[in-house]
Amino acid sequence: MSPSRRSVALLGATGSIGVQTLDVLRREREKFELVAIAGGEQLSELAAIAKEFDVKSVAVKSERHRSEFVDLVERDVEIVVGDEGLRDLSQHADVIVNAVLGFAGLPVTLGALSAGKRLALANKESLIAAAPLVAKVRNTDGAALLPIDSEHCAIHQCLASSPGIAGYPDVRRIVLTASGGPFRGWNDEQLKGATKEDALHHPTWTMGAKITIDSSTLMNKGLEVLEASALFGIDVERIDVVVHPQSIVHSMVEYVDGSVLAQLSRPDMRLPIAYCLGLPERLAHAYGALDFSKPLALSFEPPDAAAFPALGLAYEAARVAGAAPAWLSAANEVAVAAFLADQIKWRDIVAIVASTMDHYVADPLDSLSSLYENDDVARRWARASLDR
Ligand SMILES: NC(=O)c1ccc[n+]([C@@H]2O[C@H](COP(=O)([O-])OP(=O)(O)OC[C@H]3O[C@@H](n4cnc5c(N)ncnc54)[C@H](OP(=O)(O)O)[C@@H]3O)[C@@H](O)[C@H]2O)c1
Repeated sequence: MSPSRRSVALLGATGSIGVQTLDVLRREREKFELVAIAGGEQLSELAAIAKEFDVKSVAVKSERHRSEFVDLVERDVEIVVGDEGLRDLSQHADVIVNAVLGFAGLPVTLGALSAGKRLALANKESLIAAAPLVAKVRNTDGAALLPIDSEHCAIHQCLASSPGIAGYPDVRRIVLTASGGPFRGWNDEQLKGATKEDALHHPTWTMGAKITIDSSTLMNKGLEVLEASALFGIDVERIDVVVHPQSIVHSMVEYVDGSVLAQLSRPDMRLPIAYCLGLPERLAHAYGALDFSKPLALSFEPPDAAAFPALGLAYEAARVAGAAPAWLSAANEVAVAAFLADQIKWRDIVAIVASTMDHYVADPLDSLSSLYENDDVARRWARASLDR
């Protein structure tokens, strides 16, 4: 490897963010070397990536996955397994891209930061669930936490003009933009009949199934409020959400002097991915470039809090703090999986999260074992309410 190349571990390589990260890496081979990958069920795709990029190490979910993968990969690669495997690979590259889905990404987030690595984080669920634990390791020497989520990447870019004093006293508020999802403007009767096909049809972004459903309930935006608070150390009372159907303004920061800074680009996740890989350099592929030679109308409206109660649940979980955000995210994972498996209706997703939160017992979340226990209990309550 040339000394100027950065080594990259891409965990969650077979998913939507994973595939888009590979696309960026293909164009930037002189700057980056993909050394490690991880995936879940799509083992043929994982083997194809291992061969194309000649990676050194691969993490798979279980011993069964390992034996299937060995037959597919047809070359000598190190294979590691399970949570231990994810943690191991998150400690052996310059940049760790966490593109794993859901709470399963936790070993990557904690592993990368505690090893002093640059973590390019798409996996918001781990940060939301483990915020107090992440706070303890993110100041490890050399560690950097960079957000791939487009809204947070936008805020990261806007905050570059701030002196970086803890709590950002010159920032009045963060304004997260939301596309509004496929059900923007739908009335109560229409929402009652919302189908899986409707919910999977996002108006502006092409993403994995879980985050697409989260966008339809606005739970994604609720999770992003929690994510922004954890990332930037700003209280949720200083984080607002505005619906912006064009998905061109990816978020904004309003300063105490009334000035509002925004980041604009066409909706293309390769831009925030490239930003997190390249910082402080900007990689010279203009993924989301805008064409101002044509008319471009941008509109903003408040979210409909009554039609989309997920947003209010997320703010409430933030105020309660401790393990409440972990419960919210865990219950939502269970409910979305049930919806995708045709076990419940769209309306039931947020109802299940709400009823799970009713069982929450205050916990300061001061250890990893307590986080796993909270995650487990929340999932059990959510599953119990599926049956009702
Ligand atoms: N997609 C977007 O545009 C977008 C935007 C912002 C943030 N995000 C966030 O990025 C994360 C990934 O989203 P996505 O849309 O890319 O999801 P996705 O398409 O469902 O991909 C998820 C990836 O995680 C892998 N995976 C799942 N469980 C695993 C495990 N136990 N061990 C190792 N790998 C595992 C999957 O492997 P298999 O497919 O092989 O099973 C796949 O590679 C989520 O946290 C999401 O909120 C996504």
